[in-house]
Amino acid sequence: MSKIRWGIIGTGKIALRFASDLQYAPNAELSGVAGRNLPNVRKFAEEFQTTAFQTYDELLNSDADVIYVATPHSSHLEHSLRAIRAGKAVLCEKPFAINCSQTEKILEAAKSKNVFVMEAMWTRFFPAIREVLSLVKSGELGSILRIETSFGYESSFDPLSRIFDPALGGGSLLDVGIYPLALTHMLLEESPAEIVASGKLSSTGVDESVSWAMTYSSGTRFLGESSVVNVLANEAVITGSDGEIRIPQFWCPKEYTLNGVTRSFDFPGRGFQFEALEVMRCLREGIMESPLQTHANSLHVMRQMESIRKMIGVRYPQDL
Ligand SMILES: NC(=O)c1ccc[n+]([C@@H]2O[C@H](COP(=O)([O-])OP(=O)(O)OC[C@H]3O[C@@H](n4cnc5c(N)ncnc54)[C@H](OP(=O)(O)O)[C@@H]3O)[C@@H](O)[C@H]2O)c1
Repeated sequence: MSKIRWGIIGTGKIALRFASDLQYAPNAELSGVAGRNLPNVRKFAEEFQTTAFQTYDELLNSDADVIYVATPHSSHLEHSLRAIRAGKAVLCEKPFAINCSQTEKILEAAKSKNVFVMEAMWTRFFPAIREVLSLVKSGELGSILRIETSFGYESSFDPLSRIFDPALGGGSLLDVGIYPLALTHMLLEESPAEIVASGKLSSTGVDESVSWAMTYSSGTRFLGESSVVNVLANEAVITGSDGEIRIPQFWCPKEYTLNGVTRSFDFPGRGFQFEALEVMRCLREGIMESPLQTHANSLHVMRQMESIRKMIGVRYPQDL
């Protein structure tokens, strides 16, 4: 089978992890990297024995089949659009963009250029999550009464960091709150009838913590929380009429527990290879959208984040 060549934009924390896990995706090849800071690009390229491109355009004019966008949220629109316009498939880090209007621009551009694009919601492709989804959909838990899930970590305050700067799309919701929202949408595939949210904002005006409650017409209640200043339970608990599933570290799980019985999954690396393999499968099949992580899924979650932001008063300069 021929190789699929990956180019990466960005040389930060997640780009390093993704590049490292590509070794576990058979027939994936890291063809090069580009970024805003040439010494960092060279260092990254040296570590992974790949090409250091001097400019984004050089990478986009290269023979890469797909570009992984791993820059801060506020740059996803620009970098995804540039890649799409160059005719490259795109895997863009979560969140797809800052808001719905930016996300729609990316999706429209991909459609008009007829290229593949997917938000890198890596959670969806973990073996544990795939199994949980099929258990829930097969009715193993009966009807879903309640989903409770949180993702929070402690970071020190830096007003210029991508976590706290509104211009970079800072705040806990877009950074980690997106995971509880995405998981719940995978499980329920339904829009909530009601959303109530409250948040605590940092001095820079982004949500350092936010919690929400959603009610669905089916009767399910979803309680979620995210934080960039507090460690939270960092678990998903799905309670049904006939049983319960608990998923520790649900955004990248190695296990889940069904009614007290734990099932573990062993795989190398952190698990970025699973989303990479899905992209490669779609490219080989010539389809422009993953049937698992669809464009509609991404937009749905982005809409929920916009609703929550409105309720707690977080506005980004890009929202104007
Ligand atoms: N899937 C996951 O588990 C996961 C985990 C963490 C983050 N993420 C996502 O990945 C993205 C990047 O996060 P990260 O933690 O890797 O951030 P990071 O470590 O700060 O790295 C960001 C990279 O983008 C570059 N960059 C920063 N500002 C830029 C700008 N204005 N224009 C162009 N490039 C810029 C940085 O360049 P320099 O080299 O000059 O610093 C760096 O290479 C975020 O959207 C985040 O949500 C996903």
